[in-house]
Amino acid sequence: MATRIDGKELAEQVRKEVSEGVKNLKASHAVTPGLAVVLVGEDPASQVYVRNKVKQTEACGMNSFHHVMDVGTSRESLLSLIESLNTDPAVHGILVQLPLPAHLDSRDVIQTIDPVKDVDGFHSSNVGNLWTSGKSFVPCTPLGCLKLLKSVEPNIAGKNAVVIGRSNIVGRPMAALLLNESATVTIAHSKTKDLPALCRQADILVAAVGRPRMIKADWVKPGAIVLDVGINRVETADGGGCLVGDVDFEDVSTVAGAITPVPGGPGPMTIACLLANTLEAAKRAVS
Ligand code: GUN
Repeated sequence: MATRIDGKELAEQVRKEVSEGVKNLKASHAVTPGLAVVLVGEDPASQVYVRNKVKQTEACGMNSFHHVMDVGTSRESLLSLIESLNTDPAVHGILVQLPLPAHLDSRDVIQTIDPVKDVDGFHSSNVGNLWTSGKSFVPCTPLGCLKLLKSVEPNIAGKNAVVIGRSNIVGRPMAALLLNESATVTIAHSKTKDLPALCRQADILVAAVGRPRMIKADWVKPGAIVLDVGINRVETADGGGCLVGDVDFEDVSTVAGAITPVPGGPGPMTIACLLANTLEAAKRAVS
């Protein structure tokens, strides 16, 4: 049976380190790291994510600035808020929760964030730095996945990694991180031919597609490390619902070497890494 990689436990450890770093920064520079979170609209899933981000930011001793804007907010109003956060010295990190309502272009909005405060690592300047091995903020979900991976396998160099999904938030930055660790990386997506055969070649398999329990045991090389980024709500027999990943956990656990559960895998690590990026932004601001 596969080793279960515990994202909750590792996230707790990262949060402890961040809390310690926050204390030190307060003592050495009288600076409290501040994270501004902007939510446009009332998407229920985004509301839950944002609430958790705010709660955990405060729990580790940082300031949280929470901005909720109406679903019909104009581009001008949103950009003007971001510009004011860019120049606010109490704000070290800015996060605009995605997805945005359809009338707002997320790329245009992200490009307005000052790259030194872009703790999501979505600005093209940070994306470029990531792909050229420069100093950048790394998107939180892939960064969390890399930490989970390293907790079970420190030697990534030369391994075959397959990343399923090519989003800007997970798939692409995950591939860049694995490449920077000298893995041989393939990015698979909806047009990929014979996905199961490709997955069977992976020593490291990262699933970020948003399809409940798509990946089965016969897609997985024996002993492979499987990171499941999917968070899908499915109906249960009793009419209720539960969260499952993109990987059929029970089935794949019989062949994989190590696997992340859902919930309790990359999910908790995402916010922990956001806190770590915010602390880093505040440290850079005083250095
Ligand atoms: N929506 C889903 N994941 C993320 C994330 O990591 N950052 C932001 N800003 N929005 C998201």
